[in-house]
Amino acid sequence: PRYWLIVPAAGSGQRMKADCPKQYLQLNHRYILDVTLSRLLENADFAGCMVALRADDPWWSKTASSKDERVDTCIGGSERANSVLAALEALLDRADNDDWVLVHDAARPCLHPADLGRLIADLRGHPVGGLLATPVADTLKRKAGDSNAVETTVDRRHLWRALTPQMFRFSALRRALETAIASGYPITDEASALEHAGQIPCIVEGRPDNIKITVPADLALAGFILSRL
Ligand code: CTP
Ligand code: MG
Repeated sequence: PRYWLIVPAAGSGQRMKADCPKQYLQLNHRYILDVTLSRLLENADFAGCMVALRADDPWWSKTASSKDERVDTCIGGSERANSVLAALEALLDRADNDDWVLVHDAARPCLHPADLGRLIADLRGHPVGGLLATPVADTLKRKAGDSNAVETTVDRRHLWRALTPQMFRFSALRRALETAIASGYPITDEASALEHAGQIPCIVEGRPDNIKITVPADLALAGFILSRL
């Protein structure tokens, strides 16, 4: 089987409160999306790469990646899952059912090459696939309804934070996303769609510094992490 890369980059970055979507903010004088894509493409061998963009995106054509012949684009959707599904559909006539697809957030530029390599190496023989994830570090509290009263402390020993890339078979992922979207099931990552379909994704432990740039403070943090990778 071959490996395909999908990078959802069709979000608007509301929580970042910047004047452009966060994937087009600068990190070390490069667009975040360029940093993310080059780290992936330089450290793994993909048959192709599909980036999902907003329909009205005036920034993409300014990126270095837009000149990279390995990279194709499609129009994303209203939610992240719709963007990933659109990218799968754009690859439909090139990919085989059992090919692997790696999905990685445009807003995660700090992926370490060793994590990418271990994800692929650990899952290539797995029937379903899985995701990078990292153990929860903080003590977790459950609140009682809308009040601020602590109901209980949640046992965090079995709790992991889901990261990307997430790696699944092409048609299993496509069917799972289609079904989950159609049923209105809340899917915030690929693994949850597979879980909804009754599959059991596998966790591969990844570094906690594979952060998703979400709020303004994350930008400086990402710069610091990248300087030390
Ligand atoms: N994404 C996408 N299509 C959407 C929504 C999100 O391709 N309709 C992408 C984003 O561009 C990002 C990734 O999914 O790379 C993770 O989503 P998130 O961090 O939530 O990004 P945004 O939705 O852009 O940010 P916010 O939720 O703060 O608006
Ligand atoms: Mg979002």
